[in-house]
Amino acid sequence: MVAPSWAVLALAWLATLTLLSKLINLCHRRQKKLPPGPKPWPIIGNLNLVGSSPHQSFHMLSKKYGEIMQLKFVSFPVVVASSPEMAKQFLKTHGKTFASRPATAVGKYTSYNFCDMTWAPYGPYWRQARKIYLNELFSPKQLDTYDYIRVEELRALISRLYALSGKEVAIREHLARFMLTNVSRMALGDKYFSESKSDSSVKLDELREIFLDLQGYVKRMKDLYRKLDKFHNYVIDDHKARRAGDKDFVAKDVVDVVLKLADDPNLEVKLTSDCVKGLIQGYVKRMKALYRKLDKFHNYVIDDHKARRAGDKDFVAKDVVDVVLKLADDPNLEVKLTSDCVKGLIQDPIAGGTDTSSVTVEWAIFELVKQPQFLRKATEELDRVIGRDRWVEEKDIP
Ligand code: HEM
Repeated sequence: MVAPSWAVLALAWLATLTLLSKLINLCHRRQKKLPPGPKPWPIIGNLNLVGSSPHQSFHMLSKKYGEIMQLKFVSFPVVVASSPEMAKQFLKTHGKTFASRPATAVGKYTSYNFCDMTWAPYGPYWRQARKIYLNELFSPKQLDTYDYIRVEELRALISRLYALSGKEVAIREHLARFMLTNVSRMALGDKYFSESKSDSSVKLDELREIFLDLQGYVKRMKDLYRKLDKFHNYVIDDHKARRAGDKDFVAKDVVDVVLKLADDPNLEVKLTSDCVKGLIQGYVKRMKALYRKLDKFHNYVIDDHKARRAGDKDFVAKDVVDVVLKLADDPNLEVKLTSDCVKGLIQDPIAGGTDTSSVTVEWAIFELVKQPQFLRKATEELDRVIGRDRWVEEKDIP
């Protein structure tokens, strides 16, 4: 018998491998039961279907694809639940599976490698962090000890607004400043930002800039998107014009190919893969720069707190930094707090409590101003319950 040549053997192997990979793919496809959803476009996925109010776009799409559907944001699959029953499935029935946030670059570069509570994956560290926030940092007793800060800052805010009466006021700026001063004084202590104290070691505006930067990625991504969109429209118009004037047109680049694919004349092709890459790389670089600033600031605050504690035998914890540093020394703590975890836990209330609270108050003021009948009703209730001789206090809230 003639031995088969190496070429025949290689061909036989190749054919077997191809067959195997096809079979595996087929099995995978059968196993994967993906939710229904619109067909994604190359590169942009389904981004063309998501408008400036995403919740409304999701609602419209769910009418067509059902209470659970899959969309693609660029190349990321996103599953959208749109009914109380589906929400229960994700949040309760399979709550633990979906409890962690996706591990994005923001958590890695701006939150000490997921070492704060916001970005930590669900598990023993996250549960311990939650216990620390509930029982130690923001327990009703601890919140009472910060009462004087909230009273001082509220009076300072009202005085500033009163001094501006009759003039146009950008309330957003005042509220953001008020919340940041409040939360950072509770978290880090009086020394650093109290507006009433002239020996502030860190300028409030500087800190504000850092934290707004931390929160502002979404806003700035939108700005960047608008700029990119303008640029893309220009590129696309240019390509279309070139194509229109040429009967034997041959696609030469990505834009040509995508435009050719897009039979729908209304489809907006907004992102080329290069732009997506540029966008992501630019942000990681800025996140790293922001991290360096934040870390320097945290080191300064922590060293200062440690020095204060070292010189005082009867030391009593006064702010979040004091409490977290005390816990970091506790040998019985379930998950040891490293110095990065200390910084992450200190950062969370400032990053999470500032913008959220001020935007909520701004929204409430806006709604009241828009609907004078409710403003009248609220004023009447304040006059009746509180009167005009004193300020509203926290204990007035039922
Ligand atoms: C009106 C004000 C606020 C709003 C609307 C708000 C909203 C939210 C939302 C929607 C989440 C995500 C919840 C989730 O994914 O399950 C969250 C998480 C969080 N918020 Fe707030 N928040 C507010 C005030 C605050 C304040 C004052 C603080 C701290 C002082 C704070 C600290 C946090 C932290 C640490 C997390 C992460 C919790 C976790 O990972 O489980 N927030 N907040």
